[in-house]
Amino acid sequence: MRKKITIVGAGNVGGTLAQRLAERNYADLVLVDVVEGLPQGKALDLMEAGPLVGYDCEIIGTNSYEQTAHSDIAIITSGVARKPGMSRDDLLFTNMEIVKSVTQNIVKFSPNCILILISNPLDAMTQLAFHVSGFPKHRVLGMAGVLDTARFRTFLSWEGKVSVTDTYALVLGGHGDTMVPMPRYSTVAGVPIPELFSKETLARLIERTQNGGAEVVKLLKTGSAFYAPSAAAAQMVDAILLDQKKILPCSVYLEGEYGIDRLFVGVPAKLGSSGVKEIAKMMLSVEEQVALQKSAQAVKELIDLMLTKGGMNR
Ligand code: LAC
Repeated sequence: MRKKITIVGAGNVGGTLAQRLAERNYADLVLVDVVEGLPQGKALDLMEAGPLVGYDCEIIGTNSYEQTAHSDIAIITSGVARKPGMSRDDLLFTNMEIVKSVTQNIVKFSPNCILILISNPLDAMTQLAFHVSGFPKHRVLGMAGVLDTARFRTFLSWEGKVSVTDTYALVLGGHGDTMVPMPRYSTVAGVPIPELFSKETLARLIERTQNGGAEVVKLLKTGSAFYAPSAAAAQMVDAILLDQKKILPCSVYLEGEYGIDRLFVGVPAKLGSSGVKEIAKMMLSVEEQVALQKSAQAVKELIDLMLTKGGMNR
């Protein structure tokens, strides 16, 4: 039997992710949304692309959760996207209610799945899903670092006038303004970027990476990015479904690693068939450690808000 993946939210991220995963042809897909007709329409359209593209997985669109039963992976994209001028944190209370209810429904029908969160504010929503699901920590993770890293690599390739495939980058921390791009661990054709670019250039590229999501929101005016976010999520799904043991920066539950306790924050994690197999260790400079702590603190503030004002209980 083929593996089964549920995608909750048939908007731009969910729809594009469904297309990317369908084209991989390694799993049957269920697309869920509250809007009547939307997941059914997208699923039908995707199925009708199968004969042309050459995939034959099953794609179901539905407004309820029964058909999601026994999913191996469930990806939650639900929630409102920000509008120009809004930060991801402004979405906290609205998306909290949505993610809570989606998580409860997913868990009811797929108690053994791996949950991947995409809804914003990402790290807080991942922590919420972790608490609501009661899942072990290796089966709950958030997509952010892969996306932020891809943005950083894009800017590095433009600056160096080289193929993106020659770049490697690492971004740690929460998926917000405090994210921590890591120049020392980012390379162009194997050369660490502090050896290639001036401090000013690096600062400019880092700032653009940190504001990468907002830059797209400002251009689109009615929604946020989806091509790169869905590609990032698909890379994480590949790593899990194909048991690749790939090390990717993801939002994972830390219990003391990197000096961060009981919080979802982006760090490099090894992904395989069981979900998060291991949290990769890397040496941080004092400066990097301080920046990561600051980012973790920003995530913690959102968690505290959910606990005190949002009615989230542990
Ligand atoms: C972004 C949103 C998806 O970074 O958080 O584009």
